Amino acid sequence: MNILLVGTWEDAERDAWAAALSAAMPQHRLLLAREPATPIAAAVVANPPPGSLQGLPGLRLIQSLWAGVDRLMGDHTLPSGVPIARMVDPAMNSAMAETALWAVLSLHRGFFQYAQQQQRRLWQVLPQRRADEVNVLVLGLGQMGRAAAQRLQQQGYCVAAWRREEGAGEPGLVVHSGMPALQAALPAVQVVVNLLPLTPETRSLLGATFFSRLPQGAAIVNLARGAHVVDADLLAALDSGRVGHAVLDVFQTEPLPPEHRYWSHPGVTLLPHAAAQTDLRSAAGIAAANIEALAAGRPLANLVSSERGY
Ligand code: NAP
Ligand code: GLV
Repeated sequence: MNILLVGTWEDAERDAWAAALSAAMPQHRLLLAREPATPIAAAVVANPPPGSLQGLPGLRLIQSLWAGVDRLMGDHTLPSGVPIARMVDPAMNSAMAETALWAVLSLHRGFFQYAQQQQRRLWQVLPQRRADEVNVLVLGLGQMGRAAAQRLQQQGYCVAAWRREEGAGEPGLVVHSGMPALQAALPAVQVVVNLLPLTPETRSLLGATFFSRLPQGAAIVNLARGAHVVDADLLAALDSGRVGHAVLDVFQTEPLPPEHRYWSHPGVTLLPHAAAQTDLRSAAGIAAANIEALAAGRPLANLVSSERGY
């Protein structure tokens, strides 16, 4: 089969993916650009520029190298009816769990405050809480949310999660679903870790109403998508002290513009969308396995539901 590789990336990154994918599926031909009269059966994509999958009548699978497919799903030129598979990789889930643990541990033990104190040569010990005194709410209990919740539980935190469907969690993990349950849970939460997909239901969820339900000084950790947060509302909540600190990995505009207030706000710690990067070493094989399933007529893995949007 002919497979088209398309993304928004530097040449070196594209070439590394091309080499890894070609090695993982030598029986198929990988194209870096369309060729006249060459039918494309599948596309492997990493945030492809809008319109790049138009006019491919033989396309039967769009395999994303990204876990989150919100930008892809927002491309109205995508050929309709072609299944979209997203990247699901235990290596990525582990990386996300590490980032969530770093953020929660740093908030719990005041390590961000100590870093600021060092800048001011200030020698001051902060009160030390136990992990089981910290209530963490993980929004989203999917690939990333579940891995993060489990890692936080192992570390002794008091963890609850929020998901769309009612369903079982893990032993010791309280699971909420539905908006009323979320509203009821928020007043007892000290740290919110957002790992929701970006859909019409979850866009702007972290706004003024949400922050007003939290106890004074609660922390926000956003590792999912920038558009989950209403930036003006978060900045207002940080300024008023309602939100004590925010750890932000993702932003409405990336890279974050240099003039944005997040860069200099003392209540913000930020990362350059680095919480969980796709790991080429494992992800190339995962993408190749789905292409092989397509070739063999077997069921495809990790398909996105067009109804749910994730
Ligand atoms: P996922 O496996 O699809 O899990 C999504 C979870 O969110 C599920 O538990 C789902 O509930 C829940 N959910 C969806 N809509 C909801 C709603 N309206 N109300 C309540 N719960 C809802 O997603 P994932 O792979 O874990 O990815 C999570 C997020 O991480 C995405 O935003 C992705 O883009 C982002 N991400 C970020 C990075 C980074 O480096 N920062 C890297 C990878 C991924 P059900 O279980 O009931 O379906
Ligand atoms: C990264 O944000 C991803 O969705 O893979």
